[in-house]
Amino acid sequence: MCGIFGIITNQEISVGKIALEGIKRLEYRGYDSCGIVTQYSSKLYIKKDAGKIDEIHKKIKLDEFPNGAKLALAHTRWATHGAPTKLNSHPHVDCHNKIAVVHNGILENFIELKEELQSKGHNFISETDTEIIPHLIEDYMENDLDFKNAVAKAIQRCEGAYGVAICHADYPNTIIAVRKESPIVVGIEEGNTSYCASDIPAFLPYTRTCYLLDDDEMAVLKPGSVEFFDVKDSNVPKKKAIQKIEWNIDAAEKGGYEHFMLKEIYEEPSALRRTLKISKDILKTFAKILWSAKNIYITAAGTSFYASLAGKFIITKFLDKYIEAIECSEFQIQLGDALKEDSVIIAISQSGETIDLIEAIRWAKEKLKNRVKVLSITNVVGSTLTRYSDHVILTQAGPEIGVAATKTYCTQVLTLGLVALEIADLRKILPDNEIEKYYDALRSTPDIIEDFLNNDIEILKKIVKNLEKTHNFFFLARGISLATAKEGGLKLKEIACRFIEGYSAAHAKHGPISLVRKDFPIIFIAPPDETYDRLVGNVMEFKARGGKIISLVVKSDKTITDLSDITIRINQPANKYYNLFSPITFIPALQLLAYFYSVDVGLDPDQPQNLAKTVTVH
Ligand code: F6R
Repeated sequence: MCGIFGIITNQEISVGKIALEGIKRLEYRGYDSCGIVTQYSSKLYIKKDAGKIDEIHKKIKLDEFPNGAKLALAHTRWATHGAPTKLNSHPHVDCHNKIAVVHNGILENFIELKEELQSKGHNFISETDTEIIPHLIEDYMENDLDFKNAVAKAIQRCEGAYGVAICHADYPNTIIAVRKESPIVVGIEEGNTSYCASDIPAFLPYTRTCYLLDDDEMAVLKPGSVEFFDVKDSNVPKKKAIQKIEWNIDAAEKGGYEHFMLKEIYEEPSALRRTLKISKDILKTFAKILWSAKNIYITAAGTSFYASLAGKFIITKFLDKYIEAIECSEFQIQLGDALKEDSVIIAISQSGETIDLIEAIRWAKEKLKNRVKVLSITNVVGSTLTRYSDHVILTQAGPEIGVAATKTYCTQVLTLGLVALEIADLRKILPDNEIEKYYDALRSTPDIIEDFLNNDIEILKKIVKNLEKTHNFFFLARGISLATAKEGGLKLKEIACRFIEGYSAAHAKHGPISLVRKDFPIIFIAPPDETYDRLVGNVMEFKARGGKIISLVVKSDKTITDLSDITIRINQPANKYYNLFSPITFIPALQLLAYFYSVDVGLDPDQPQNLAKTVTVH
C-alpha cells in the first residue's frame, strides 16, 4: 500500500509545502521512499529518494520548487515491485519527462505491457510496475489523443489494482486521478484549489467537502473544480454526490501525544461511545439476516480477524447456529464448493480495502450471485468492501493513523456485541431484564476503559522495565479470551518485534509448554468466566515450571492473583454480563503493554518495520 496526494490551485500558495504535508499525513500507508513532482513553465520538477519522509526532506528539501508552480503530485511508498531505491520511488515519468504518475496498487499485466512498449522504443529506468503508465499515456498521445483520452485509454489496458494521479508538463491546469480497487478521494475548495489523495486526512486541514471515486472512474481536477467520467466513456461527464466530512483534522493529528498509537488508545472510550449510537435499524437488519441464515461465516485479516473471533463467540451466545471463522486469505481455498446458497458472510475490515478480504467476498458473490449475503463492518465510508456488501455497519472509530489497529478493534467487537444483543432481543430467548443487564455491561465498556487509562497504567510500565528484553513469551487464555490473547500477542509482535504467541492455555500443554524455563514470561488473560477454574490449573502448571506469571484479571480477583508474580487489574464487576464483553475492556492493557515495550526498546510504534496499514497485496 502507498499514499498518493495531488493539489492544483489558482492561489499564491506553496504547492510543494502542501504536498509534503499531505504525504506526511499518509505516511502510515507506507514509508520506505517518497517523492514530489511539480509543474512550472512546461517542465516537470521532481524530487524523490529512498527513506522516511523526514530524512529525505532534511537532505533534499522536498518542498522547495520553482515559485509559481500551481500543481503538485506526491507519493509515499511501501515497496512491492522493485526495492525501495531512489530509482523505484514515485513519481515515474515517460521518455520525455512530460508525464508524471504516482500510483498505489499493483498492475498485474505490467510485464507484457512493458515488453510491448519497449519494442516500440520506450526506455524504462525502474523495476516498478507503475512506470508503464506514463509510457502508455505517452504512446497514446503520440497517436493524437489528448491528455484525458490518452489516460483513459492507457488505464483501460491496465489490469490489477490502482489509484493513480497523473500530471502533464504541458497541461498546467489539470490533474487526472483514476481508481480501481485502491482508494482515491477528491477534495474541493470551491473556485480555488482541488486535491486528490488516498485518504481524506491528507487534505482535511483545507476542506471537508469531498467526493469518493468509484472503481473505473476518472476525476479531472482543475483549480477549485472537478469533473468525473467513466474510464470507458471519457467524453461524457457524470454526476457524483458530495460527501461532507464530519470530523476535523484534530482526529487525524497527534494532538500532543508522542505517537498516534498512544493517542488512538486514549480515544477508545470516545470511539466506543460513538459506536454505541449505531442505528437500531441497521442492527436489526443484521440480526434478522443472521437469524434466518442457513450457514454463517465470519472473515477478516489480522486484528479484524481476532475481533471476529471475539464477535463470533459473543453472537453464538444468543444464536443457536455455529459461526465458522475463516481468515479471508483462506476463505475460497477452504470453502470451495462447500459454500452453499443462503449463506451469510460477515466481513470485517478497518480499512475496507484489504485485498484478500475483497477477493473472498467477490468470489462468494460471483459464485452464488444473490444467494449469499454479505454483511460488513468497516471504519471507512465508501471503501471497496462497502461496494460488495449487501448491508454495512460503519464503526465510528474515526481515522486510525497508527499502523497497529487499536481503537478500531474495540469498536469492531462492540459492534458485534450490539448485533448479538439485537439477536437476543429478536429471538426473545431471555427475559427483558436479563438482556438489559448485558446492554448495561456493553454500555459500560467506555467507562471501564477510561478508568483503566486514567488510573492503572503504571503497572504496565513497571512490567516493561522488569521484562528481560531478549525473552519471547506467551499470552495464554481460554474461551472468549483467546481472541484477546491472540490480539495482544499480535500487537507485541508487530510493534515490539518480539516473538510472542497468543495461544490456548489448554492447547499449550500439548507442546509449547516445553519452552518454559525459569522466568519465562506468560501472560494469562483471566476474566472470571466459565473457563476460570480450568485456567487456574493451567497457571499452576506453568508456574511449576518456573514461568513468570503475569495475569490480566478483574479488580476483585483472588485465586489467580495469588498465583501471579504481577497482576494487571481491570475495574469491572465479576459477573457473566461483563465477562462477555471483556475482549473490549481487557485489550487496552495489552495494547499499551506493546506500546510501552516498543518505546522502551527504541522502536517507532507508529511505523513498524515491513508493515503498512492496509495490505493490498496477496
Ligand atoms: C494489526 C493490523 C493488521 C490489520 C489487518 C487487516 O495491528 O492492523 O493486522 O488488522 O491488516 O486490516 P483491515 O482491518 O483494514 O482489513
